Amino acid sequence: MPFSLQTIDGSFKGKDIISIDQFSSEDIEIIFNKIHAMKALVINKEPSTLLQGYVIALIFYEPSSRTFGSFSSAAKRLGAATIEYLNPQQNSSVAKGESLEDTMQTLQSYAEIIVMRHYESGAAIKAAGAASVPLINAGDGGNAHPTSTLLDLYTIYERFQRLTNLTVVISGDIVHSRTIKSLIQGLSLYKENKVYLLSPKELRLEKSDFERFTKNGIELIEIFDEKDIPKDANVWYWNRIQKERFPSIQEAEKYKGKFILTEKLLTEYGNNDLIILDPLPRVGEIELAIDNDPRSLYLKAQIRNSLYVRMALLALVLGKAK
Ligand code: NCD
Repeated sequence: MPFSLQTIDGSFKGKDIISIDQFSSEDIEIIFNKIHAMKALVINKEPSTLLQGYVIALIFYEPSSRTFGSFSSAAKRLGAATIEYLNPQQNSSVAKGESLEDTMQTLQSYAEIIVMRHYESGAAIKAAGAASVPLINAGDGGNAHPTSTLLDLYTIYERFQRLTNLTVVISGDIVHSRTIKSLIQGLSLYKENKVYLLSPKELRLEKSDFERFTKNGIELIEIFDEKDIPKDANVWYWNRIQKERFPSIQEAEKYKGKFILTEKLLTEYGNNDLIILDPLPRVGEIELAIDNDPRSLYLKAQIRNSLYVRMALLALVLGKAK
């Protein structure tokens, strides 16, 4: 039987987390409702036994700082142990030619959840089909990064106390960015959101994705010039050029320096209530001077929330969240 994704439908227990397609706004609220307790554990440095006895496997075929670190920290803060493979292409039997399916069937004997990042679009669903334990997609190629969206949405919600009726400007390498595509899907679960997509024409969303995302009723407006940035936006979301997804470095270099978030741009098109997000790493797309602006949350709330959201998610998938 071909493997198909399960919707969350109010219950996370035992389910793979592969795509925002699986979620409703109510499902996302279930995660948000757990954040307060997770935050308290971290802030008070309370030892937790919630996931004691469990092992979480982290296998990252692509580099990562925050996603890897926050999942690993989340597991440990809840009392679970981890086994961690960074760069399995060198550090595991993948180097000897082991298939993704066989690697997953190995990890399922050691761990109750597999968190996987992979360079190939579609690898997460393939791995989930092979593994008997839940698989959490920590990013698959240029396709999807659902847990990044969960923390992005929470960071927006924390500031505005709503996820409806928002104007969001998203800038970067839209065609290749999995965080951007998943975020558009996330915002489309809520009513009356308007998303401006700012990119060079060559890096705009693929037509099929544009159609797929707008089917849910979200308004997507493509802009190719900074002067079309609306001045009343609630959120600016910047993401780097995804150089590893281009056929060559030279191709990627062509877009270096395009649509940089500078103090000048912020003064001209920003407003006082705006928040500025970036899933990071930042490689020049936001000027360092913006870090001191209270509207910038990428080095603050967005990173902290990545830990709380992933703690809540691990607990929910293991059926242990109270
Ligand atoms: C993002 C990713 O891996 O897609 N990083 C992350 O998870 N924090 C964004 C990026 O690499 O540009």
